Amino acid sequence: MALDMKPFDAKSAPKISDKDFEQLRDYIYNVCGIYFHSSKKYFLESRLARRMEGTGCKTHADYYQFVRSPATGRSELSKLLDEITTNETCFFRNMPQLNALENKFLPEIVAAKGKIGFKKLRIWSAGSSSGEEAYTMAMILLEKRQTLLKDWIIEIVGTDINETVLAQAREGVYNSYSVRNTPDYYLKKYFKEEAPGKFVLSPEVKKLATFSQLNLYDDNKMLFMKSFDFIFCANVLIYFDTSSKSKVVQHFYNNLQPYGYFFVGQSESLHGVNDKFKTVHFPGGFTYNK
Ligand SMILES: C[S@@+](CC[C@H](N)C(=O)[O-])C[C@H]1O[C@@H](n2cnc3c(N)ncnc32)[C@H](O)[C@@H]1O
Repeated sequence: MALDMKPFDAKSAPKISDKDFEQLRDYIYNVCGIYFHSSKKYFLESRLARRMEGTGCKTHADYYQFVRSPATGRSELSKLLDEITTNETCFFRNMPQLNALENKFLPEIVAAKGKIGFKKLRIWSAGSSSGEEAYTMAMILLEKRQTLLKDWIIEIVGTDINETVLAQAREGVYNSYSVRNTPDYYLKKYFKEEAPGKFVLSPEVKKLATFSQLNLYDDNKMLFMKSFDFIFCANVLIYFDTSSKSKVVQHFYNNLQPYGYFFVGQSESLHGVNDKFKTVHFPGGFTYNK
């Protein structure tokens, strides 16, 4: 926090009426698919209060006008989305999934693509937050660089709606909390602990992944995300309602190669969301393919 910044006092947040809550909740939903149930009213109230303080808006109705105005809305919307998204993540978050990727799904896809001489692998971390998921994949693939993936082109794309976390991803500097699940082997090989609790990712890992802003709820932009072998969208759709989940998952379906795999988070499933994807089980979890 900058020294001249006053700490935010959630108790003094302006109270939101039901009408204003519904109006702003619906606006956010229509923009990005994130749905705030009425039980989350106070969460939204406190996050909005920060933006009202930042913009000088005195009432929620003023703020609603401000964030939708052609002159101020675009940059304000980005700040609002930075406030309301939950960005919790870490390296090596889902070990059963990563083991299955490394030992089963990756060799399978490499064999299929190798047969037709197409040595390029495309991976998408959708809702990448600060990059830990994408870089975990990069480290796992780097380990295969001299063997299974010799002469292969690897493209890892991380996307998120939140500009602040994307900037952190591009920087590649992490704290102890982010690396808490990282096996020692990877920690020693691919990070430099520059100061206690400051872990700097090695350039060879950073080189494999690029990060860009993408709203998964934006149909036009989603059409450009083509031909992925693996898509990860973990712990993102939990913030969506069923209808926005279905819309986004249909894009993943369309953007996945015919033999590719789609992974969600440990406690998530596509039950009631999409019936085109087939479930594929592995020890400790499951994934989806076409
Ligand atoms: C809890 S993090 C998950 C990070 C990572 N996938 C993992 O499992 O560790 C959820 C991320 O989804 C992003 N997100 C939420 N709604 C989004 C949307 N409509 N488009 C793109 N990203 C979104 C948030 O900004 C946040 O960084």
